[in-house]
Amino acid sequence: MSEHGLEDGLTNYGDRDFSLYLRRSFAQSMGYSRALLKKPVVGIAYTPSAFNNCHRHFPELLEAVRRGVLATGALPMAFPTISLGEVFLSPTSMKYRNLMSIDTEEMIRAQPMDAVVLMGGCDKTVPAQIMGAVSAGRPAVMLVAGPMMTGRHRGERLGACTDCRRFWARYRAGEVAEEEISQVEGQLAVTAGTCAVMGTASTMACIAEALGLILPGTAAIPAVHADRLRAAEATGSAAVALIGSDRTPGRIVNAKSVENALRALLALGGSTNAVIHLTAIAGRAGVKISLAELNRLSDSTPVLRELKPLLHLDCVTASGETLGERLASDGGAYVDRSIIAQRDKPFEPQGGLVALFGNLAPKGAILKRSAADAKLFEHVGRAVVFSSLADLAARIDDPALDVMPDDVLVLQNAGPHSGDYMPEAGYLPIPKKLAQRGVKDMIRISDARMSGTAFGTIVLHITPDAASGGPVGLVRSGDRIRLSVKERRIELMVEEAQLKARAAAAKPAQVKPDRGYAKLYAQEILGADEGCDFGFLRPAAGKP
Ligand code: FES
Repeated sequence: MSEHGLEDGLTNYGDRDFSLYLRRSFAQSMGYSRALLKKPVVGIAYTPSAFNNCHRHFPELLEAVRRGVLATGALPMAFPTISLGEVFLSPTSMKYRNLMSIDTEEMIRAQPMDAVVLMGGCDKTVPAQIMGAVSAGRPAVMLVAGPMMTGRHRGERLGACTDCRRFWARYRAGEVAEEEISQVEGQLAVTAGTCAVMGTASTMACIAEALGLILPGTAAIPAVHADRLRAAEATGSAAVALIGSDRTPGRIVNAKSVENALRALLALGGSTNAVIHLTAIAGRAGVKISLAELNRLSDSTPVLRELKPLLHLDCVTASGETLGERLASDGGAYVDRSIIAQRDKPFEPQGGLVALFGNLAPKGAILKRSAADAKLFEHVGRAVVFSSLADLAARIDDPALDVMPDDVLVLQNAGPHSGDYMPEAGYLPIPKKLAQRGVKDMIRISDARMSGTAFGTIVLHITPDAASGGPVGLVRSGDRIRLSVKERRIELMVEEAQLKARAAAAKPAQVKPDRGYAKLYAQEILGADEGCDFGFLRPAAGKP
């Protein structure tokens, strides 16, 4: 792609010269000199929002990106897109990830820019921006927000949001009083930046780096550290260097770089959500992620160890270096062994995530074994079924609920085709009466997602989901369910004929909104095995 600056993609008035004259005239109204308006343009997809605490520092980061662009000889032009602040969106940010990807793709394509910097961070923003940029086809480099700092409570370090859930579980169990939970609330998220733990935002930042879409070494720089500003400046410069190159996200994301990213995800024991997002990103580049392949990689990728021998080192990154060159240049760097385990002494011998299959999940399900209780890995238990999130909320703490510690809690109709849009509800709370008896973990299964910061023996993303007719919708309380992590199985121990009879009697659960974005969503949403992308956003067959 060559550089065109503001001459690129003119507004159509039927007279090219008039269009250019008008654009220059209006651009001059913003106070730019003619000399600057002749420079190549770097667009900056800019996503601050009063509803996004994680992006609070973006104005300062933007200044640094602009500095880098200007110093390297191009004109920086920031433009807004939708921003998705995880905890401010109802019913769940997942409903809007694809909308943000459409906004990002179309605004990159519609406006005159020779390269683009993507500024994202909070959970869905990074995958949405990468999905959009892969489809838009212009050179792009990303700058992530960086993690927030941790807070302190009674001598203990607190990180959002693992400690949000830990303290909330203790509060529910009666171990933490009202006054203390309110003190904790004030210490969980204490600065700008994304959640401090290895949740979805941190995982996606690492995946973006493993794919080669952000500058090397920048995924985990704290949001408020001066190094983050220097990374922003360098990202602006890198965007200028991309102008005229063919290093578009659609080329950088390929089968090999996706495998590298999967390895990184497994080694980190990262968020289960990342499987969905990476599948959607890869899908935009025409690369299919199979859950069977995930298991193969998981078996040969230890948690937290040095990965170089397992990676495709010839993958090119947005900076122009190959991954191999990048790692070689870092050869003698200090490694903190309290964080990064040695190759021959991994934290866990296998990857953090595992895919399960069986009659309950014909197209697969995910379990984060690094966050689960190994005592429950081989288990047969009685199902206690909740037919929806509303049913769960109404009954989970009912003292009359018929539930025992070795039962299997099942949540239905919380998948991508449901009216709840696949929220992070798969971390079903332990029923209060069991929590108060000290029960900390139970097998919980659903077609929902779970926060990357949650933990427990939790089977997620069951596909097909209940609302699209999947067998998880046919489970009834009292059925027996078998989990075998060793065999990668999740099975409903009910006769085939009985399941057929239940399916014949079932009413369709998928909602059919009659207008707006919700209608588009319902018509186009794909299953978790395809990243929950929209069908019409994937590349047409045979096209890149
Ligand atoms: Fe934004 Fe957690 S709320 S990353």
